Amino acid sequence: MSHSSELIAGDIAGYLKAHEHKGLLRFITCGSVDDGKSTLIGRLLFESKLLFEDQLAAIEADSKKFGTQGNDIDFALLVDGLAAEREQGITIDVAYRFFSTDKRKFIVADTPGHEQYTRNMVTGASTADAAILMVDARQGILTQTRRHSFLMSLIGIRHIVVAINKMDLVDYSKARYDEIVDAYRVFAKQLGLEAITFIPMSALKGDNVVEHGHHMPWYHGPTLMAYLETIEVDEERLQRLPLRMPVQWVNRPNLDFRGFTGMISSGRVKPGDAIRVQPSGKRSTIKRIYTFDGDLEEAIAGQSVTLLLEDEIDISRGDVISGVEQPAEIADQFESTLVWMHEQPLLPGRPYLMKLGTQTLSATVTDIKYQVNVNTLEHTAAKQLDLNGIGVCTLSLSQPVAFDAYRDNQDTGGFILIDRMTNNTVGAGMLHFALRRSQNIHMQHVDIDKQARALTKNQKPAVLWLTGLSGAGKSTIANRVEKKLHAAGQHTYLLDGDNVRHGLNRDLGFTDADRVENIRRVGEVARLMVDAGLIVLTAFISPFRSERQLARDLVEDGEFIEIFVDTPLEVAEERDTKGLYKKARRGELKNFTGIDSAYEAPETPELRIDTTQLSEEEAADAIIELLRERQIIA
Ligand code: ADX
Repeated sequence: MSHSSELIAGDIAGYLKAHEHKGLLRFITCGSVDDGKSTLIGRLLFESKLLFEDQLAAIEADSKKFGTQGNDIDFALLVDGLAAEREQGITIDVAYRFFSTDKRKFIVADTPGHEQYTRNMVTGASTADAAILMVDARQGILTQTRRHSFLMSLIGIRHIVVAINKMDLVDYSKARYDEIVDAYRVFAKQLGLEAITFIPMSALKGDNVVEHGHHMPWYHGPTLMAYLETIEVDEERLQRLPLRMPVQWVNRPNLDFRGFTGMISSGRVKPGDAIRVQPSGKRSTIKRIYTFDGDLEEAIAGQSVTLLLEDEIDISRGDVISGVEQPAEIADQFESTLVWMHEQPLLPGRPYLMKLGTQTLSATVTDIKYQVNVNTLEHTAAKQLDLNGIGVCTLSLSQPVAFDAYRDNQDTGGFILIDRMTNNTVGAGMLHFALRRSQNIHMQHVDIDKQARALTKNQKPAVLWLTGLSGAGKSTIANRVEKKLHAAGQHTYLLDGDNVRHGLNRDLGFTDADRVENIRRVGEVARLMVDAGLIVLTAFISPFRSERQLARDLVEDGEFIEIFVDTPLEVAEERDTKGLYKKARRGELKNFTGIDSAYEAPETPELRIDTTQLSEEEAADAIIELLRERQIIA
């Protein structure tokens, strides 16, 4: 293992292994370059002597070249130099650095401090045991300090160090230090931040970083390094919590062996312990704890193991193995905080994939209660969350899951959201608590079902979902199809954009968020009508793939027939039956589909109608033909 301060991914495992006997502390530094963050990290790396000799020589040479006074080494050059190297070609915005002392090994996550980097900070801090907030003694508490503190409290970092740096530039003044400490305390109280340690220092000169130095005899607390060497790492705390092991996979090489593999996120477990599988609630007893290096007498938080049980019970990936005492909670509706990480905004009503522990399921934000201004902590109303937006939201899942409040357990209470179409990670969040509502509302069983209703109508219920640009011909074609079906004695209903927007969806406009809600409601109504046994026709632009997929998922396989009424923009604009394209081009109509609002064409519709080739009558016939093929009508 080389003594390089920055490692590529493959080296990390080796490094950690070499220093395995020592506890590992993860921390994050918050502040801008001006606060002396780079200098501090550079000094920590330097003082822990884990630098290449030649790297050191290079920095000394550079420091001379760039004119650092006296014999001070400009440690910032070290860190920034590495950053510049890293930025070539790749865009990992969180840099992890490693160093170690005799007592501990450390990983420090270094993230840019500007507001547009909120998502990086959340990523970098999500596993941190401690955070160092850099404050320039001359400047005191800044907006940025407040923002970073808020983020750290959100992420639930348990140990906060306020490093009051550049004391050399305020003559090592105790009065100035006290003033900053008092100001910060007032603010921290609002946030409910607890364990805060204040350390006056000069990262440049070295005072109170590793050695006390002799400039600040009035300070009796620990040096930063001493503090970092002694605080309790989160893993120790997690071992005291109740047992949780999210099952990563079911290990069944042969009939005699059936184990459940995963990392223990909290607590400890021994053979003979009674356990409960969640959400099913089934119970069993631990038979063996298997690892590649042999069986264990006991496993603790942070270890990856395979558990064998006394009983043959159904367990699958995503389930959580918990102690019988203090099991996890189970729910499908939550209040949570959400940090949005993507340029495409969060839209309430849109389904996202949620990863919680080892479970992946579908989740929708049903309501944004408020958005938090990260600089002022003010709460404001919001219809969507933009990049770096933070909001308190109500979440609704496709099925009940086992969880803990994030405050108690970050593994079983922290989640990410993934866009279902692009597979991008778009958000990260923390579960606060379950909403009672989900436990008190149950589905009512009814005796007359969809099949029974459809049978009396001599048809199979279905949704014919027409999508396409405004003026593509959706309504006209749908209208013709409905006439034909009606003449043949079928029971139908036509939901048309312009009509529904006069009633049910009168409150909605044409922002992305409103269109999502428009289609969500129409999808739900179509589902009810399918349940009533009807053949439902819908004519909505429905511009987004996500929501068409949502509508599809609401009904059974084969019941959703997507029909792409494909009219090129030029043609629709040329026809301009309602005169809306002209208005939009003149700028009198905002967010017009095809002009300044997106249309995502279907990739694999059940039917595509090219209106430049087919007449409306031919289009209607093609649809009827498809319904016969699919035996929706006889
Ligand atoms: S959707 O995008 O939410 O599916 P919907 O089909 O309900 O739209 O409504 C589209 C109809 O509303 C259009 O045919 C047009 O008559 C009218 N309309 C008014 N403003 C807009 C706009 N900005 N973009 C698209 N359609 C608009």
